[in-house]
Amino acid sequence: MAKDSHRVLILGGYGFFGRIIAEGLARVPGLDLLVAGRDANKATALAYQLGLRAENARALDAGDPRLASVLRKLGVNTLIHTAGPFQGQQYHVARACIEARTHYLDLADGRAFVTGIGTLDAPARAAGVCVISGVSSLPALTSAVVDLHLPYFKRIESIAIGISSGAKLPGIATVRGVMGYCGKPFQVWENGAWVQTYGWLDRRTFEFPKPIGARLLGRCDVPDLTLLPARYPGVRAVSFHAGFASETGHKLVEWLATQVRSGRVKSAAPYAGALYRVGRWLESMLPDRGAMFVRMQGTNDDDRPRTLNWQLLAYDNHGPHIPCGPAIALTRKIASGKPPEPGARPCMGMLTVKEILEPLQGLSLRELAPAVPTYVSS
Ligand SMILES: NC(=O)c1ccc[n+]([C@@H]2O[C@H](COP(=O)([O-])OP(=O)(O)OC[C@H]3O[C@@H](n4cnc5c(N)ncnc54)[C@H](OP(=O)(O)O)[C@@H]3O)[C@@H](O)[C@H]2O)c1
Repeated sequence: MAKDSHRVLILGGYGFFGRIIAEGLARVPGLDLLVAGRDANKATALAYQLGLRAENARALDAGDPRLASVLRKLGVNTLIHTAGPFQGQQYHVARACIEARTHYLDLADGRAFVTGIGTLDAPARAAGVCVISGVSSLPALTSAVVDLHLPYFKRIESIAIGISSGAKLPGIATVRGVMGYCGKPFQVWENGAWVQTYGWLDRRTFEFPKPIGARLLGRCDVPDLTLLPARYPGVRAVSFHAGFASETGHKLVEWLATQVRSGRVKSAAPYAGALYRVGRWLESMLPDRGAMFVRMQGTNDDDRPRTLNWQLLAYDNHGPHIPCGPAIALTRKIASGKPPEPGARPCMGMLTVKEILEPLQGLSLRELAPAVPTYVSS
């Protein structure tokens, strides 16, 4: 490792999202990348593909009780944790980072995991490191979009977020995570009160611009449902829906959700593997386009209703790069000597939309910023 270089270890580095992040960081000047996971062969194969050496690959288990001393020995400055699912995971990796005085970022989308990361705030501050959770589409990008548009509202009353994927299926950890809450109850903030809803039910149809068109979306249990009502006081509703490129696939997951909700099936989690294999098999037959929206409603300075709908459209199966933008951007920031304040918190207010999209330049993505009188991208 070159003297003064910043050493970054990606745990889950050859996984679906880990690999995209590794590609985005492999050639950053002054950054020394280690790719890690439980399989040394897979890590080594990726290191070579990225033009790195065998020393840049490590076999490492997230549950290793000696993780802190391994990180210290390797001289890791920043660790990116992508080894999900995070639903039900404890903070062993983050604690090891604090002990080793290593900055920690993760891609978590588990609601309890991301919202609870603040419990590590005091030890992270004492160690002088940042411990940042949800450095991904949620809540990093979603909150950055709302922050950007907040000045155009006198009052923001509702935030609705939706993501519809393209054909390319993410990794098994993602599928396991989202199937865990399929048909299970959780709380959402609606009309200024917490109400119960169910995972992958309460179907909506969202009309994205052509050629994406209408997509089916269902409810998901994500950190934003807790974080955004707290971040934007006065907001009376926050919702998050997601869906798949295949309408039949969506209806199948929805049917499973009804089985779980009715008690006929205990959990949809055991079906994650089978759904993953079917999804992979269908990839070549499905549209390669996905999209995301953040719709904000409220009032303008004249107390008139205002709706701003921000959208990000992805073509050529480039949608899966979006969740990786925040981790690439924040790691670059840390490596350039500008880490967030020491402490542990969800990834909000640390990156602008522009910073998140910057590493994704050159991909088939199209940002549709809403028309507002004096729109300025920060
Ligand atoms: N917040 C958001 O907006 C957002 C968006 C997208 C994805 N995500 C999250 O990102 C995570 C990663 O998703 P993915 O699709 O990339 O999953 P994936 O392809 O299954 O990758 C997971 C990686 O972690 C490794 N891994 C698993 N258990 C491990 C352990 N105990 N120790 C070390 N490495 C381990 C796996 O390799 P081995 O099994 O060989 O060790 C694999 O490389 C998911 O939890 C997903 O929910 C969040």
